[in-house]
Amino acid sequence: MKKLTATLLAGAAALTFAATAQAEPDGEAIYNQACMACHMTGAAGAPIKGDEAAWAPRLEKGMDTLYAHSIDGFQAMPPKGGHMNLSDEEVKAAVDFMLEPVL
Ligand code: HEC
Repeated sequence: MKKLTATLLAGAAALTFAATAQAEPDGEAIYNQACMACHMTGAAGAPIKGDEAAWAPRLEKGMDTLYAHSIDGFQAMPPKGGHMNLSDEEVKAAVDFMLEPVL
């Protein structure tokens, strides 16, 4: 019985953790998974993370536009980086992580 209780408690802890992760998407993990392939290499003309010159004219459009372009796509940028399973909040967290060094 003790063992069962411990298993149940561990399960509950894992669920709590998952719920927390949902509320606060991990921008770095999402970037690594969904954005890095293009935004680290500059593939297809993607602005590279940390490249101030590449981001300056884009930042002038405002964060709302950059969020919208990340979610809906923009020219060679596929909607959600091609990862349609991501929520809007997860994509925004990845944008925040990507732009953090140039803000
Ligand atoms: C298949 C390659 C590819 C992937 C994957 C990708 N991007 Fe992009 N992204 C691009 C390209 C190319 C551009 C430049 C588009 C242009 O200006 O023509 C771009 C531009 C952007 C911009 C600037 C948009 C603007 O209005 O200037 C943002 C923000 C962005 N991407 C965020 C993301 C995020 C967040 C992810 C991951 C969820 C991601 N991208 C994944 C290729 C990619």
